[in-house]
Amino acid sequence: MATAADPSDSRGFRDALGRFATGVTIVTTLDGAGRPVGLTANSFNSVSLDPPMVLWSLARRSLNLPVFLEAGHFAVNVLAADQRALSDRFARPAGDRFAGVDWEAGTAGVPVLPGTVASFECATDSSIEGGDHVIFLGRVARFRHADREPLIYHAGRYGTPAARG
Ligand SMILES: Cc1cc2nc3c(=O)[nH]c(=O)nc-3n(C[C@H](O)[C@H](O)[C@H](O)COP(=O)(O)O)c2cc1C
Repeated sequence: MATAADPSDSRGFRDALGRFATGVTIVTTLDGAGRPVGLTANSFNSVSLDPPMVLWSLARRSLNLPVFLEAGHFAVNVLAADQRALSDRFARPAGDRFAGVDWEAGTAGVPVLPGTVASFECATDSSIEGGDHVIFLGRVARFRHADREPLIYHAGRYGTPAARG
C-alpha cells in the first residue's frame, strides 16, 4: 500500500493525479479576429449522453482563457498515437501553433484537425470556477471518430508502460 499524503504536498498530488491514464486532446477555437487558437489538454472527459455534453479544464494562467470564455464554441480533437509532435507543439508557449498545421473549419468555424481518433465540435454551455482552473462544459453539436490507435498519457509520459518507445 502506498503512503498516504496530504494534498498540500503539491508535487505528490500532481504525481498521484498523473497516475490516471488519459488520452490527449488539442482543444481549439477562434479568437475575436477569427484566428485559430488551441492547446494540448488531457482534462477532457465525457459528461452527459442526453443532452450530449463533454468537459475540459483550462488553467487560469492561460493567455487563452479570455478567448475561450468569449468564443462560444470549441472543438476537442482527440489525438492519434502518431500525433505526438502535435501534442508537444500545442503544449509549448509558442507563437502561432497553427503555422503549417492542416485544419478545417467545423461548427462556428472551430478548427478541426485531420488524422485524429475523434473530434467533438461544441457550443460552450457554461464555464465553472475550479480553483486555479476553469471548467468548460460543452454541448456537442457534431462529432466524428475513426479506427486509429489513440495517443496515451500516463505519469507525465506518452504511451502505456508496456508500449513506450
Ligand atoms: C499531455 C498534456 C496535457 C495537458 N493538459 C492540460 C489541460 O487539461 N489544461 C490546461 O490548461 N493545460 C494543459 N496542459 C498544458 C498546456 O498544454 C500548456 O500549458 C500550454 O502551453 C497552454 O497554452 P496557453 O497558455 O496558450 O493556453 C497539458 C499539457 C500536456 C503536455
